[in-house]
Amino acid sequence: MSELLEYIEKKQHDETRQGEALSVVATENEFKNNKHFYIESYGCAMNFSDSEIVASILSKQGYSVTTDVLQADLILINTCSIREKAEQTVRTRLHSFNQIKKKRKGMLIGVLGCMAERLKSKFLEEEKIVDLVVGPDAYRSLPDLIADAEGGQKGVNVLLSREETYADISPVRLDKNGVTAFVSIMRGCDNMCSFCVVPFTRGRERSRNPDSIIAEAQDLFDKGYREITLLGQNVDSYKWKGSESDSENENETIQVNFPQLLEKVALVNPLLRVRFSTSHPKDICDDVLHTIVKYENICNYIHLPVQSGNTACLERMNRTYTREWYLNRIDAIKKIIPDCGISSDMIAGFCGETEEEHQDTLSMMEYVRYDLCYMYYYSERPGTLAARKFKDDVPLETKKRRLAEIVELQNRHSKENNLAEIGKTFKVLIEKTSKKSDDELCGRSSNNRFIIFPKGNHKIGEYVNVLVESGNKAMLKGRVV
Ligand code: SAM
Ligand code: SF4
Ligand code: F3S
Repeated sequence: MSELLEYIEKKQHDETRQGEALSVVATENEFKNNKHFYIESYGCAMNFSDSEIVASILSKQGYSVTTDVLQADLILINTCSIREKAEQTVRTRLHSFNQIKKKRKGMLIGVLGCMAERLKSKFLEEEKIVDLVVGPDAYRSLPDLIADAEGGQKGVNVLLSREETYADISPVRLDKNGVTAFVSIMRGCDNMCSFCVVPFTRGRERSRNPDSIIAEAQDLFDKGYREITLLGQNVDSYKWKGSESDSENENETIQVNFPQLLEKVALVNPLLRVRFSTSHPKDICDDVLHTIVKYENICNYIHLPVQSGNTACLERMNRTYTREWYLNRIDAIKKIIPDCGISSDMIAGFCGETEEEHQDTLSMMEYVRYDLCYMYYYSERPGTLAARKFKDDVPLETKKRRLAEIVELQNRHSKENNLAEIGKTFKVLIEKTSKKSDDELCGRSSNNRFIIFPKGNHKIGEYVNVLVESGNKAMLKGRVV
């Protein structure tokens, strides 16, 4: 149990879904101004994707990206507010950046993303080391705000927009593997789950023009990428209403929903794999499932966060579905896509959660047998519906104990599901060299199994068939056949 508690502490402290801050080198500068920026990203994939938009905006101003914070003229931290620990991590980082700033005259420090949006100008008052505070919909104003800050004024823009999708901005890819990329298809969220700060930090939901999504997917494919992940807080509610540039009648209004968008992206090239995240249980429809089955290059993997297995708790969470509804969606997935990988997010110890409600979460997990789960204990966020309406009344020790039980069960399921794949052959897209050995490569199967195998003559970006021979809860090992 103590190992589990350590895991939980680390997980709650870490708060980056990818698990690490990203700092990278850009290649697409239009001109150089001899200035460098360093960027660190925290939180969900949307934030990592946004950092690529920021990199694009700054490289048009002549900035180069540096991975060496000591060389930076501008340090940016793209922040997350989802749990309290996420914000603490940012404050700690800001204080260490401040030490660097003391030694580098003229250097600027900027806070981007959800924490900038949540705290607004309070940041400038509380954290005197910050020169720029820029919310997720205001990145186009970064060049002006930097100019203000260079002139000695503080630069703040936290205006949320109902239209901004950065559709015309071609992101500078910061992840260097050159094989997988995120493509943002929408922004914001209209769902108002009672525990969640995202609707406040990211604003109203809006969908991006499908033409620009397809163009970005095509461009990525042409540059050698072989997998894209379509991103949104609730991809199933993607909806585009507008006129398509190639429409015969310019005034004709076309509508594109998520299954239609998925199909359009799948048709870009059969060698381009398509994933998507996140699906909302209330909105995921059979049309999406049938579209996944219809195209071999749409991956058989669905991230369908349940949060709790108990209907009363789901109601307090304002998730707008019941346990039965969720189970019906799981049954539909298992029936229509029999080998589909399924993952979830769980919150332990939400306001008023009883022991029986917690047991319902465990029994839900037993029913679904998720391949992967992101698991947290509840962290109250100021201003949310839950903070206003309910008491955060589950003691911390109980939250941690329940979370430990969830983690323990999930570890068992992850291991058992992985071991059940031994003896099967999977088509794997090679993503990178294995961390443990230069003689091994690794990648994922369509259903999101992480598979390691001897390198041979194979190269990153290729597809290979791998026969699985062994495994544990986190990965499978095999050989190319
Ligand atoms: N839009 C997605 C959804 O509806 O599942 C993801 C939302 S959020 C970025 C990622 C996860 O963080 C949530 O699914 C939830 O499990 C967790 N989360 C959100 N607010 C939280 C809070 N106040 N305390 C603990 N976990 C939280
Ligand atoms: Fe937050 Fe709910 Fe929106 Fe997900 S769907 S971002 S949990 S409000
Ligand atoms: Fe965090 Fe904002 Fe994403 S709060 S999880 S970075 S949308």
